[in-house]
Amino acid sequence: MIATTAAIVAGLSATAAADTVFGALVFTRHGDRTAKFFNNAVLTNLGADQTYNSGAFFRNRYIANGSEYQIAGISADKVNPGQVWASAPDSGVLYESATHFLQGLYPPLGTADGQELSNGTETYAPLGGYQFILVNGEDTNSPDTIWLQGSTGCPAFTTASSSYSQSAAYQSLMNSTTSFYSQFSDILGPIIGTSNLTYKNAYTIFDLLNVASIHNITVAPNISTSALDEARYLADAHEFNAVYNSTQNMRSISGQTLAGQILSQLNNTVYSNATHQKFTLLAGSYDLFQAFFGLTNLTSASPNFYGLPAYAAQMVFELFVPDSNASFPTSPSTDLRVRFYFKNGTQSDIEQFPLFGTQDQDMSYGDFVSELGARSVGKLPQWCGMCGSTEAFCVAANQTSDSTSPSSGGAGSSSSSSGSHGSSLSNAAAGGIGAGVTLGVVFVVAGLAFLLTRGRRNRNRHAAPAAVGGTAATTPAGLEKRPSNSESESSV
Ligand SMILES: *[C@@H]1O[C@H](CO)[C@@H](O)[C@H](O)[C@H]1NC(C)=O
Ligand SMILES: *[C@@H]1O[C@H](CO)[C@@H](O)[C@H](O)[C@H]1NC(C)=O
Ligand SMILES: *[C@@H]1O[C@H](CO)[C@@H](O)[C@H](O)[C@H]1NC(C)=O
Ligand SMILES: *[C@@H]1O[C@H](CO)[C@@H](O)[C@H](O)[C@H]1NC(C)=O
Ligand SMILES: *[C@@H]1O[C@H](CO)[C@@H](O)[C@H](O)[C@H]1NC(C)=O
Ligand SMILES: *[C@@H]1O[C@H](CO)[C@@H](O)[C@H](O)[C@H]1NC(C)=O
Repeated sequence: MIATTAAIVAGLSATAAADTVFGALVFTRHGDRTAKFFNNAVLTNLGADQTYNSGAFFRNRYIANGSEYQIAGISADKVNPGQVWASAPDSGVLYESATHFLQGLYPPLGTADGQELSNGTETYAPLGGYQFILVNGEDTNSPDTIWLQGSTGCPAFTTASSSYSQSAAYQSLMNSTTSFYSQFSDILGPIIGTSNLTYKNAYTIFDLLNVASIHNITVAPNISTSALDEARYLADAHEFNAVYNSTQNMRSISGQTLAGQILSQLNNTVYSNATHQKFTLLAGSYDLFQAFFGLTNLTSASPNFYGLPAYAAQMVFELFVPDSNASFPTSPSTDLRVRFYFKNGTQSDIEQFPLFGTQDQDMSYGDFVSELGARSVGKLPQWCGMCGSTEAFCVAANQTSDSTSPSSGGAGSSSSSSGSHGSSLSNAAAGGIGAGVTLGVVFVVAGLAFLLTRGRRNRNRHAAPAAVGGTAATTPAGLEKRPSNSESESSV
Protein backbone atom coordinates (compact mmCIF):
# COMPACT_ATOMS: atom_id res chain seq x y z
CA MET A 1 0.00 0.00 0.00
CA ILE A 2 2.64 2.47 1.02
CA ALA A 3 4.85 1.33 -1.83
CA THR A 4 2.04 1.81 -4.34
CA THR A 5 1.36 5.31 -3.10
CA ALA A 6 5.02 6.14 -3.31
CA ALA A 7 5.14 4.86 -6.90
CA ILE A 8 2.16 6.99 -7.86
CA VAL A 9 3.68 10.04 -6.25
CA ALA A 10 6.95 9.37 -8.03
CA GLY A 11 5.09 8.99 -11.33
CA LEU A 12 3.30 12.29 -10.83
CA SER A 13 6.41 14.20 -9.98
CA ALA A 14 8.18 12.73 -13.01
CA THR A 15 5.48 14.25 -15.21
CA ALA A 16 5.59 17.48 -13.31
CA ALA A 17 9.30 17.83 -13.73
CA ALA A 18 9.36 17.23 -17.49
CA ASP A 19 8.96 20.89 -18.43
CA THR A 20 9.67 24.25 -16.90
CA VAL A 21 6.83 26.72 -17.42
CA PHE A 22 7.88 30.38 -17.47
CA GLY A 23 4.64 32.14 -18.20
CA ALA A 24 0.98 31.73 -19.09
CA LEU A 25 -1.59 33.99 -20.72
CA VAL A 26 -5.28 33.19 -20.28
CA PHE A 27 -8.06 34.80 -22.31
CA THR A 28 -11.42 34.16 -20.66
CA ARG A 29 -15.07 34.58 -21.53
CA HIS A 30 -17.43 35.76 -18.78
CA GLY A 31 -19.59 33.37 -16.80
CA ASP A 32 -23.34 32.81 -16.88
CA ARG A 33 -25.30 36.07 -17.20
CA THR A 34 -28.79 37.37 -17.84
CA ALA A 35 -29.96 37.63 -21.47
CA LYS A 36 -28.33 40.30 -23.62
CA PHE A 37 -31.66 41.20 -25.16
CA PHE A 38 -32.72 42.84 -21.91
CA ASN A 39 -30.43 45.80 -21.45
CA ASN A 40 -27.81 45.83 -18.74
CA ALA A 41 -27.15 42.12 -18.63
CA VAL A 42 -25.51 41.17 -15.35
CA LEU A 43 -23.40 38.29 -14.19
CA THR A 44 -25.46 35.81 -12.15
CA ASN A 45 -24.37 34.03 -8.97
CA LEU A 46 -23.80 30.98 -11.14
CA GLY A 47 -21.61 33.03 -13.47
CA ALA A 48 -19.60 34.49 -10.59
CA ASP A 49 -19.05 30.99 -9.30
CA GLN A 50 -17.98 29.72 -12.74
CA THR A 51 -15.36 32.40 -13.18
CA TYR A 52 -14.16 32.01 -9.59
CA ASN A 53 -13.81 28.26 -10.20
CA SER A 54 -11.92 28.96 -13.42
CA GLY A 55 -9.42 30.98 -11.40
CA ALA A 56 -9.15 28.12 -8.90
CA PHE A 57 -8.52 25.70 -11.77
CA PHE A 58 -5.64 27.81 -13.07
CA ARG A 59 -4.34 28.29 -9.53
CA ASN A 60 -4.01 24.50 -9.32
CA ARG A 61 -2.32 24.39 -12.67
CA TYR A 62 0.13 27.30 -12.48
CA ILE A 63 0.35 28.88 -9.04
CA ALA A 64 -0.07 26.64 -6.00
CA ASN A 65 2.87 24.73 -4.60
CA GLY A 66 2.87 21.20 -5.98
CA SER A 67 1.03 22.21 -9.19
CA GLU A 68 2.03 20.18 -12.18
CA TYR A 69 2.74 23.27 -14.29
CA GLN A 70 3.68 25.69 -11.53
CA ILE A 71 5.27 28.74 -13.15
CA ALA A 72 8.92 29.06 -12.20
CA GLY A 73 9.41 31.58 -9.43
CA ILE A 74 5.77 32.53 -9.04
CA SER A 75 4.51 33.51 -5.61
CA ALA A 76 2.32 30.61 -4.48
CA ASP A 77 -0.07 32.17 -1.98
CA LYS A 78 0.35 35.91 -1.63
CA VAL A 79 0.05 37.72 -4.94
CA ASN A 80 3.15 39.58 -6.11
CA PRO A 81 1.69 42.47 -8.14
CA GLY A 82 4.60 42.52 -10.60
CA GLN A 83 3.97 38.89 -11.53
CA VAL A 84 0.29 39.18 -12.50
CA TRP A 85 -1.24 41.50 -15.08
CA ALA A 86 -4.94 41.61 -15.95
CA SER A 87 -7.13 43.60 -18.31
CA ALA A 88 -10.82 43.65 -19.19
CA PRO A 89 -13.22 46.02 -20.90
CA ASP A 90 -15.08 48.33 -18.52
CA SER A 91 -18.29 46.37 -18.70
CA GLY A 92 -20.11 44.67 -15.86
CA VAL A 93 -20.01 41.06 -16.96
CA LEU A 94 -16.45 41.03 -18.27
CA TYR A 95 -14.76 43.17 -15.64
CA GLU A 96 -16.58 41.35 -12.88
CA SER A 97 -15.67 37.97 -14.38
CA ALA A 98 -11.99 38.96 -14.40
CA THR A 99 -12.24 39.97 -10.74
CA HIS A 100 -13.83 36.68 -9.68
CA PHE A 101 -11.27 34.74 -11.69
CA LEU A 102 -8.42 36.50 -9.90
CA GLN A 103 -9.98 35.75 -6.51
CA GLY A 104 -9.91 32.07 -7.44
CA LEU A 105 -6.32 32.46 -8.59
CA TYR A 106 -5.19 34.10 -5.35
CA PRO A 107 -7.85 33.45 -2.72
CA PRO A 108 -8.04 35.26 0.62
CA LEU A 109 -5.10 34.57 2.92
CA GLY A 110 -7.08 34.18 6.16
CA THR A 111 -4.79 34.94 9.07
CA ALA A 112 -1.67 33.92 7.16
CA ASP A 113 -0.84 37.51 6.27
CA GLY A 114 -1.16 39.52 9.50
CA GLN A 115 0.47 42.91 9.99
CA GLU A 116 1.45 44.08 13.44
CA LEU A 117 0.73 47.62 14.57
CA SER A 118 3.03 49.62 16.81
CA ASN A 119 0.74 48.91 19.77
CA GLY A 120 1.11 45.17 19.21
CA THR A 121 -2.28 44.49 17.59
CA GLU A 122 -2.28 42.02 14.71
CA THR A 123 -4.39 43.19 11.72
CA TYR A 124 -5.81 41.34 8.70
CA ALA A 125 -7.36 42.39 5.38
CA PRO A 126 -11.18 42.30 5.26
CA LEU A 127 -13.26 39.43 3.85
CA GLY A 128 -11.03 36.84 5.41
CA GLY A 129 -7.78 38.26 4.11
CA TYR A 130 -8.96 39.37 0.65
CA GLN A 131 -6.14 40.05 -1.83
CA PHE A 132 -6.52 43.04 -4.11
CA ILE A 133 -5.42 42.42 -7.70
CA LEU A 134 -5.67 45.25 -10.20
CA VAL A 135 -7.72 44.68 -13.35
CA ASN A 136 -6.85 47.31 -15.95
CA GLY A 137 -10.28 48.37 -17.18
CA GLU A 138 -10.57 49.76 -20.68
CA ASP A 139 -13.46 52.07 -21.45
CA THR A 140 -14.54 52.52 -25.05
CA ASN A 141 -13.10 56.04 -25.24
CA SER A 142 -9.62 54.88 -24.32
CA PRO A 143 -7.25 53.95 -27.15
CA ASP A 144 -6.47 50.70 -25.34
CA THR A 145 -10.06 49.63 -25.90
CA ILE A 146 -9.12 48.25 -29.32
CA TRP A 147 -7.13 45.34 -27.87
CA LEU A 148 -10.16 43.67 -26.31
CA GLN A 149 -12.97 45.24 -28.38
CA GLY A 150 -11.41 45.71 -31.77
CA SER A 151 -14.66 45.75 -33.72
CA THR A 152 -16.29 48.52 -31.71
CA GLY A 153 -16.11 51.93 -33.38
CA CYS A 154 -14.75 50.32 -36.55
CA PRO A 155 -16.93 51.21 -39.57
CA ALA A 156 -15.00 48.96 -41.98
CA PHE A 157 -15.77 46.00 -39.72
CA THR A 158 -19.46 46.83 -39.66
CA THR A 159 -19.55 46.96 -43.45
CA ALA A 160 -17.59 43.73 -43.88
CA SER A 161 -19.54 41.88 -41.25
CA SER A 162 -22.94 43.00 -42.50
CA SER A 163 -22.08 41.78 -45.98
CA TYR A 164 -22.52 38.23 -44.66
CA SER A 165 -26.26 38.74 -45.04
CA GLN A 166 -25.75 39.11 -48.80
CA SER A 167 -24.06 35.74 -49.15
CA ALA A 168 -25.78 32.71 -50.63
CA ALA A 169 -25.07 30.75 -47.45
CA TYR A 170 -26.91 33.30 -45.35
CA GLN A 171 -29.87 33.50 -47.70
CA SER A 172 -30.13 29.76 -47.74
CA LEU A 173 -30.25 29.48 -43.95
CA MET A 174 -32.58 32.45 -43.73
CA ASN A 175 -35.07 30.70 -46.00
CA SER A 176 -34.78 27.18 -44.71
CA THR A 177 -35.08 27.87 -41.00
CA THR A 178 -38.39 29.72 -40.93
CA SER A 179 -40.37 26.74 -39.70
CA PHE A 180 -37.70 25.85 -37.15
CA TYR A 181 -37.85 29.33 -35.65
CA SER A 182 -41.63 29.58 -35.76
CA GLN A 183 -41.86 26.90 -33.04
CA PHE A 184 -40.67 29.52 -30.55
CA SER A 185 -43.46 32.00 -31.18
CA ASP A 186 -45.20 31.19 -27.89
CA ILE A 187 -42.08 31.58 -25.80
CA LEU A 188 -40.29 34.38 -27.66
CA GLY A 189 -42.98 36.11 -29.74
CA PRO A 190 -44.09 38.27 -26.79
CA ILE A 191 -40.47 39.28 -26.20
CA ILE A 192 -38.90 39.97 -29.60
CA GLY A 193 -41.93 39.91 -31.91
CA THR A 194 -42.98 36.94 -34.07
CA SER A 195 -41.65 38.55 -37.24
CA ASN A 196 -38.20 38.72 -35.66
CA LEU A 197 -38.05 34.95 -35.20
CA THR A 198 -35.63 34.38 -38.09
CA TYR A 199 -32.01 33.41 -38.71
CA LYS A 200 -31.19 37.11 -38.81
CA ASN A 201 -31.63 37.09 -35.03
CA ALA A 202 -30.02 33.69 -34.52
CA TYR A 203 -27.87 34.82 -31.62
CA THR A 204 -30.55 36.78 -29.77
CA ILE A 205 -32.92 33.82 -30.09
CA PHE A 206 -30.35 31.30 -28.91
CA ASP A 207 -29.29 33.54 -26.04
CA LEU A 208 -32.86 34.06 -24.82
CA LEU A 209 -33.56 30.32 -25.02
CA ASN A 210 -30.29 29.36 -23.37
CA VAL A 211 -30.71 31.82 -20.50
CA ALA A 212 -34.35 30.78 -20.05
CA SER A 213 -33.39 27.09 -20.06
CA ILE A 214 -31.01 27.78 -17.17
CA HIS A 215 -33.03 30.30 -15.16
CA ASN A 216 -36.69 30.48 -16.13
CA ILE A 217 -38.72 27.88 -14.29
CA THR A 218 -41.86 28.71 -16.30
CA VAL A 219 -40.31 28.29 -19.70
CA ALA A 220 -37.42 25.84 -19.23
CA PRO A 221 -39.55 22.66 -19.41
CA ASN A 222 -40.82 23.76 -22.84
CA ILE A 223 -37.37 24.11 -24.40
CA SER A 224 -36.19 20.72 -25.64
CA THR A 225 -32.52 19.87 -25.72
CA SER A 226 -32.64 19.25 -29.45
CA ALA A 227 -34.33 22.57 -30.18
CA LEU A 228 -31.81 24.40 -28.01
CA ASP A 229 -28.92 22.60 -29.74
CA GLU A 230 -30.32 23.47 -33.13
CA ALA A 231 -30.71 27.11 -32.14
CA ARG A 232 -27.11 27.01 -30.91
CA TYR A 233 -25.76 25.58 -34.19
CA LEU A 234 -27.51 28.28 -36.15
CA ALA A 235 -26.16 30.94 -33.80
CA ASP A 236 -22.68 29.37 -34.13
CA ALA A 237 -22.82 29.74 -37.91
CA HIS A 238 -24.28 33.23 -37.81
CA GLU A 239 -21.80 34.60 -35.31
CA PHE A 240 -18.75 32.85 -36.77
CA ASN A 241 -19.48 34.23 -40.21
CA ALA A 242 -19.99 37.70 -38.79
CA VAL A 243 -16.39 37.76 -37.53
CA TYR A 244 -14.41 35.60 -39.93
CA ASN A 245 -14.18 35.14 -43.66
CA SER A 246 -10.86 33.96 -45.06
CA THR A 247 -11.15 36.33 -48.03
CA GLN A 248 -12.41 39.37 -46.14
CA ASN A 249 -9.76 40.59 -43.76
CA MET A 250 -11.82 43.23 -41.96
CA ARG A 251 -14.32 40.76 -40.55
CA SER A 252 -11.79 39.37 -38.11
CA ILE A 253 -10.39 42.72 -36.98
CA SER A 254 -11.25 42.01 -33.32
CA GLY A 255 -9.26 38.77 -33.51
CA GLN A 256 -6.35 40.61 -35.11
CA THR A 257 -6.11 43.21 -32.34
CA LEU A 258 -6.51 40.47 -29.73
CA ALA A 259 -3.59 38.71 -31.43
CA GLY A 260 -1.61 41.96 -31.17
CA GLN A 261 -2.43 42.19 -27.47
CA ILE A 262 -1.46 38.56 -26.83
CA LEU A 263 1.90 39.12 -28.53
CA SER A 264 2.46 42.35 -26.68
CA GLN A 265 1.72 40.85 -23.26
CA LEU A 266 3.74 37.69 -23.86
CA ASN A 267 6.57 39.93 -25.00
CA ASN A 268 6.46 41.66 -21.61
CA THR A 269 7.02 38.29 -19.98
CA VAL A 270 9.81 37.28 -22.34
CA TYR A 271 11.48 40.68 -22.38
CA SER A 272 11.83 40.55 -18.59
CA ASN A 273 13.37 37.05 -18.84
CA ALA A 274 10.15 35.95 -17.15
CA THR A 275 10.95 37.81 -13.97
CA HIS A 276 7.81 39.93 -14.43
CA GLN A 277 4.27 39.36 -15.65
CA LYS A 278 4.44 35.59 -15.29
CA PHE A 279 0.65 35.30 -15.47
CA THR A 280 -1.60 37.41 -17.70
CA LEU A 281 -5.40 37.43 -17.66
CA LEU A 282 -7.46 39.01 -20.43
CA ALA A 283 -11.26 38.94 -20.60
CA GLY A 284 -13.35 39.38 -23.72
CA SER A 285 -16.53 38.39 -25.49
CA TYR A 286 -17.30 35.33 -27.63
CA ASP A 287 -16.85 37.17 -30.93
CA LEU A 288 -13.15 37.63 -30.19
CA PHE A 289 -12.81 33.92 -29.60
CA GLN A 290 -14.48 33.06 -32.89
CA ALA A 291 -12.49 35.62 -34.89
CA PHE A 292 -9.29 34.29 -33.34
CA PHE A 293 -10.28 30.66 -34.02
CA GLY A 294 -10.73 31.48 -37.69
CA LEU A 295 -7.56 33.53 -37.97
CA THR A 296 -5.31 30.95 -36.33
CA ASN A 297 -6.81 27.97 -38.25
CA LEU A 298 -8.11 26.30 -35.12
CA THR A 299 -11.17 25.39 -37.19
CA SER A 300 -8.85 23.06 -39.13
CA ALA A 301 -7.74 21.44 -35.86
CA SER A 302 -11.37 20.77 -34.84
CA PRO A 303 -14.71 21.79 -36.37
CA ASN A 304 -15.88 22.45 -32.81
CA PHE A 305 -14.07 25.77 -33.12
CA TYR A 306 -16.83 27.00 -35.42
CA GLY A 307 -19.00 26.96 -32.31
CA LEU A 308 -19.56 29.64 -29.71
CA PRO A 309 -17.33 29.08 -26.69
CA ALA A 310 -19.17 28.09 -23.52
CA TYR A 311 -19.50 30.48 -20.59
CA ALA A 312 -16.21 30.85 -18.73
CA ALA A 313 -14.27 29.23 -21.57
CA GLN A 314 -10.55 30.00 -21.86
CA MET A 315 -7.80 30.07 -24.44
CA VAL A 316 -4.38 29.52 -22.88
CA PHE A 317 -0.88 30.27 -24.17
CA GLU A 318 1.92 28.66 -22.24
CA LEU A 319 5.62 29.58 -22.42
CA PHE A 320 7.87 26.68 -21.49
CA VAL A 321 11.15 24.87 -21.95
CA PRO A 322 10.91 21.09 -22.36
CA ASP A 323 13.37 20.41 -19.59
CA SER A 324 13.05 20.17 -15.84
CA ASN A 325 14.56 22.92 -13.73
CA ALA A 326 15.62 24.86 -16.82
CA SER A 327 16.67 28.45 -16.44
CA PHE A 328 15.21 31.07 -18.75
CA PRO A 329 16.82 30.59 -22.18
CA THR A 330 19.33 33.12 -23.42
CA SER A 331 17.82 32.80 -26.93
CA PRO A 332 14.09 32.72 -26.23
CA SER A 333 13.09 32.97 -29.87
CA THR A 334 14.62 29.56 -30.58
CA ASP A 335 14.74 27.89 -27.15
CA LEU A 336 11.53 29.03 -25.51
CA ARG A 337 8.42 27.18 -26.72
CA VAL A 338 4.73 28.06 -26.92
CA ARG A 339 1.73 25.75 -26.73
CA PHE A 340 -1.99 26.43 -26.93
CA TYR A 341 -4.87 25.00 -24.90
CA PHE A 342 -8.61 25.51 -24.88
CA LYS A 343 -10.93 24.89 -21.95
CA ASN A 344 -14.57 25.04 -22.94
CA GLY A 345 -16.18 26.09 -19.67
CA THR A 346 -16.12 24.83 -16.11
CA GLN A 347 -17.35 21.33 -16.94
CA SER A 348 -14.83 20.72 -19.65
CA ASP A 349 -11.23 19.46 -19.51
CA ILE A 350 -8.36 21.57 -20.73
CA GLU A 351 -7.26 20.35 -24.15
CA GLN A 352 -4.23 21.09 -26.31
CA PHE A 353 -4.57 22.05 -30.01
CA PRO A 354 -2.11 22.89 -32.78
CA LEU A 355 -2.23 26.44 -34.12
CA PHE A 356 -1.90 27.80 -37.66
CA GLY A 357 -3.07 24.69 -39.51
CA THR A 358 -0.02 22.64 -38.50
CA GLN A 359 0.10 19.30 -36.69
CA ASP A 360 2.60 20.65 -34.17
CA GLN A 361 1.62 20.57 -30.52
CA ASP A 362 4.06 23.38 -29.77
CA MET A 363 6.46 25.69 -31.57
CA SER A 364 9.37 27.99 -30.86
CA TYR A 365 8.53 31.41 -29.51
CA GLY A 366 10.10 32.95 -32.63
CA ASP A 367 7.86 30.96 -34.98
CA PHE A 368 4.84 31.78 -32.84
CA VAL A 369 5.62 35.49 -32.98
CA SER A 370 6.04 35.45 -36.75
CA GLU A 371 2.90 33.35 -37.43
CA LEU A 372 0.67 35.27 -35.05
CA GLY A 373 2.35 38.53 -35.96
CA ALA A 374 1.31 38.03 -39.59
CA ARG A 375 -2.31 37.81 -38.38
CA SER A 376 -2.20 40.64 -35.89
CA VAL A 377 -2.72 44.36 -35.63
CA GLY A 378 -0.43 45.73 -32.95
CA LYS A 379 -0.49 49.50 -33.43
CA LEU A 380 -3.28 51.96 -32.92
CA PRO A 381 -2.78 53.98 -36.15
CA GLN A 382 -2.88 50.75 -38.14
CA TRP A 383 -6.25 49.90 -36.62
CA CYS A 384 -7.52 53.45 -37.15
CA GLY A 385 -6.52 53.31 -40.81
CA MET A 386 -7.94 49.86 -41.49
CA CYS A 387 -11.21 50.72 -39.75
CA GLY A 388 -11.57 54.20 -41.21
CA SER A 389 -12.37 55.07 -37.61
CA THR A 390 -13.34 58.54 -36.52
CA GLU A 391 -12.93 57.81 -32.82
CA ALA A 392 -11.36 60.76 -31.00
CA PHE A 393 -8.28 58.71 -30.15
CA CYS A 394 -7.76 57.99 -33.85
CA VAL A 395 -7.88 61.67 -34.68
CA ALA A 396 -5.31 62.24 -31.95
CA ALA A 397 -3.16 59.35 -33.15
CA ASN A 398 -3.12 60.78 -36.66
CA GLN A 399 -1.63 63.95 -35.28
CA THR A 400 1.33 62.30 -33.61
CA SER A 401 4.10 60.49 -35.35
CA ASP A 402 6.48 59.33 -32.65
CA SER A 403 6.99 55.62 -32.68
CA THR A 404 7.43 53.36 -29.70
CA SER A 405 7.35 49.65 -29.24
CA PRO A 406 3.95 48.15 -28.44
CA SER A 407 5.56 46.10 -25.73
CA SER A 408 4.84 48.30 -22.76
CA GLY A 409 2.18 47.21 -20.31
CA GLY A 410 -0.25 49.50 -22.02
CA ALA A 411 0.05 47.37 -25.10
CA GLY A 412 0.73 49.99 -27.62
CA SER A 413 -1.62 52.77 -26.70
CA SER A 414 1.07 55.30 -27.22
CA SER A 415 2.62 53.64 -30.18
CA SER A 416 2.20 54.85 -33.67
CA SER A 417 3.94 54.04 -36.83
CA SER A 418 3.66 56.78 -39.33
CA GLY A 419 4.15 54.54 -42.34
CA SER A 420 1.50 52.05 -41.42
CA HIS A 421 -1.84 53.55 -42.10
CA GLY A 422 -1.63 54.13 -45.79
CA SER A 423 -0.52 50.62 -46.53
CA SER A 424 -2.85 49.08 -43.96
CA LEU A 425 -5.75 50.80 -45.53
CA SER A 426 -4.93 49.58 -48.98
CA ASN A 427 -4.30 46.06 -47.67
CA ALA A 428 -7.62 46.11 -45.96
CA ALA A 429 -9.33 47.36 -49.05
CA ALA A 430 -7.62 44.71 -51.13
CA GLY A 431 -8.64 42.06 -48.63
CA GLY A 432 -12.21 43.21 -48.72
CA ILE A 433 -12.58 43.52 -52.45
CA GLY A 434 -10.11 40.82 -53.45
CA ALA A 435 -10.97 37.99 -55.77
CA GLY A 436 -12.60 35.93 -53.10
CA VAL A 437 -15.14 34.12 -55.22
CA THR A 438 -13.38 30.78 -55.48
CA LEU A 439 -12.12 30.85 -51.93
CA GLY A 440 -15.52 32.06 -50.80
CA VAL A 441 -17.08 28.95 -52.28
CA VAL A 442 -14.50 26.80 -50.55
CA PHE A 443 -15.33 28.54 -47.33
CA VAL A 444 -19.04 28.08 -47.77
CA VAL A 445 -18.48 24.39 -48.48
CA ALA A 446 -16.35 24.11 -45.35
CA GLY A 447 -19.13 25.76 -43.40
CA LEU A 448 -21.70 23.34 -44.81
CA ALA A 449 -19.52 20.39 -43.97
CA PHE A 450 -19.39 21.73 -40.45
CA LEU A 451 -23.16 22.06 -40.21
CA LEU A 452 -23.62 18.60 -41.71
CA THR A 453 -21.24 17.10 -39.21
CA ARG A 454 -22.89 18.80 -36.32
CA GLY A 455 -26.40 18.05 -37.51
CA ARG A 456 -25.50 14.41 -37.89
CA ARG A 457 -23.77 14.20 -34.58
CA ASN A 458 -26.83 15.55 -32.92
CA ARG A 459 -29.36 13.68 -35.00
CA ASN A 460 -30.95 16.95 -35.84
CA ARG A 461 -31.03 17.74 -39.51
CA HIS A 462 -32.57 21.17 -39.65
CA ALA A 463 -29.42 23.05 -40.39
CA ALA A 464 -27.84 20.63 -42.80
CA PRO A 465 -30.48 20.25 -45.51
CA ALA A 466 -31.25 23.91 -45.12
CA ALA A 467 -27.71 24.82 -45.92
CA VAL A 468 -27.50 22.50 -48.88
CA GLY A 469 -30.84 23.11 -50.48
CA GLY A 470 -31.30 26.84 -50.31
CA THR A 471 -31.31 29.20 -53.24
CA ALA A 472 -30.34 32.80 -52.99
CA ALA A 473 -33.22 35.15 -52.50
CA THR A 474 -33.39 38.87 -52.25
CA THR A 475 -31.28 40.77 -49.81
CA PRO A 476 -33.11 41.07 -46.53
CA ALA A 477 -34.05 44.55 -45.56
CA GLY A 478 -32.06 46.09 -42.75
CA LEU A 479 -28.83 44.56 -41.62
CA GLU A 480 -28.12 44.18 -37.98
CA LYS A 481 -26.64 47.29 -36.56
CA ARG A 482 -23.75 45.54 -34.90
CA PRO A 483 -23.69 41.90 -35.75
CA SER A 484 -22.05 39.75 -33.13
CA ASN A 485 -21.19 42.67 -30.99
CA SER A 486 -20.78 42.16 -28.21
CA GLU A 487 -20.66 41.20 -24.64
CA SER A 488 -17.98 43.75 -24.25
CA GLU A 489 -20.23 46.69 -24.95
CA SER A 490 -21.28 48.77 -22.03
CA SER A 491 -24.93 48.01 -22.73
CA VAL A 492 -24.38 44.42 -21.65
C1 LIG B 1 -4.09 49.40 18.57
O1 LIG B 1 -4.38 50.31 17.50
C2 LIG B 1 -5.55 49.99 16.74
C3 LIG B 1 -5.67 50.97 15.58
O2 LIG B 1 -5.60 52.26 15.97
C4 LIG B 1 -6.77 49.98 17.60
O3 LIG B 1 -7.92 49.62 16.85
C5 LIG B 1 -6.56 48.99 18.75
O4 LIG B 1 -7.67 49.03 19.63
C6 LIG B 1 -5.27 49.26 19.52
N1 LIG B 1 -5.05 48.20 20.47
C7 LIG B 1 -4.75 48.43 21.73
C8 LIG B 1 -4.52 47.21 22.57
O5 LIG B 1 -4.67 49.55 22.16
C1 LIG C 1 -16.71 35.86 -47.83
O1 LIG C 1 -16.13 36.94 -48.52
C2 LIG C 1 -16.23 36.84 -49.93
C3 LIG C 1 -15.41 37.97 -50.53
O2 LIG C 1 -15.81 39.20 -50.02
C4 LIG C 1 -17.71 36.89 -50.33
O3 LIG C 1 -17.83 36.76 -51.74
C5 LIG C 1 -18.44 35.73 -49.65
O4 LIG C 1 -19.82 35.81 -49.90
C6 LIG C 1 -18.21 35.79 -48.16
N1 LIG C 1 -18.81 34.62 -47.56
C7 LIG C 1 -19.64 34.70 -46.52
C8 LIG C 1 -20.19 33.40 -46.02
O5 LIG C 1 -19.95 35.74 -46.00
C1 LIG D 1 -38.35 43.38 -34.31
O1 LIG D 1 -37.11 43.88 -33.82
C2 LIG D 1 -36.92 45.27 -34.09
C3 LIG D 1 -35.49 45.61 -33.72
O2 LIG D 1 -35.15 45.11 -32.47
C4 LIG D 1 -37.97 46.04 -33.32
O3 LIG D 1 -37.80 47.43 -33.57
C5 LIG D 1 -39.35 45.60 -33.78
O4 LIG D 1 -40.33 46.26 -33.01
C6 LIG D 1 -39.50 44.10 -33.63
N1 LIG D 1 -40.76 43.66 -34.23
C7 LIG D 1 -41.81 43.27 -33.52
C8 LIG D 1 -42.99 42.80 -34.29
O5 LIG D 1 -41.79 43.27 -32.31
C1 LIG E 1 -39.32 33.95 -18.15
O1 LIG E 1 -40.23 34.08 -17.07
C2 LIG E 1 -41.09 35.19 -16.98
C3 LIG E 1 -42.25 34.81 -16.12
O2 LIG E 1 -41.80 34.45 -14.85
C4 LIG E 1 -41.58 35.75 -18.31
O3 LIG E 1 -42.15 37.02 -18.13
C5 LIG E 1 -40.44 35.79 -19.29
O4 LIG E 1 -40.83 36.36 -20.51
C6 LIG E 1 -39.95 34.37 -19.46
N1 LIG E 1 -39.34 34.01 -20.71
C7 LIG E 1 -38.08 34.17 -21.16
C8 LIG E 1 -37.78 33.59 -22.48
O5 LIG E 1 -37.21 34.73 -20.53
C1 LIG F 1 -5.43 29.82 -42.10
O1 LIG F 1 -5.74 31.13 -41.66
C2 LIG F 1 -5.38 32.15 -42.59
C3 LIG F 1 -5.64 33.48 -41.93
O2 LIG F 1 -6.99 33.65 -41.65
C4 LIG F 1 -6.17 31.97 -43.87
O3 LIG F 1 -5.78 32.94 -44.82
C5 LIG F 1 -5.93 30.58 -44.43
O4 LIG F 1 -6.79 30.37 -45.51
C6 LIG F 1 -6.19 29.51 -43.37
N1 LIG F 1 -5.81 28.21 -43.87
C7 LIG F 1 -6.59 27.15 -43.71
C8 LIG F 1 -6.02 25.85 -44.23
O5 LIG F 1 -7.68 27.19 -43.16
C1 LIG G 1 -17.63 24.50 -26.79
O1 LIG G 1 -18.90 24.14 -26.32
C2 LIG G 1 -19.97 24.53 -27.18
C3 LIG G 1 -21.25 24.11 -26.48
O2 LIG G 1 -21.45 24.90 -25.37
C4 LIG G 1 -19.80 23.89 -28.52
O3 LIG G 1 -20.84 24.29 -29.37
C5 LIG G 1 -18.46 24.27 -29.11
O4 LIG G 1 -18.27 23.63 -30.34
C6 LIG G 1 -17.36 23.87 -28.15
N1 LIG G 1 -16.06 24.32 -28.67
C7 LIG G 1 -14.99 23.52 -28.71
C8 LIG G 1 -13.73 24.06 -29.32
O5 LIG G 1 -15.00 22.38 -28.28
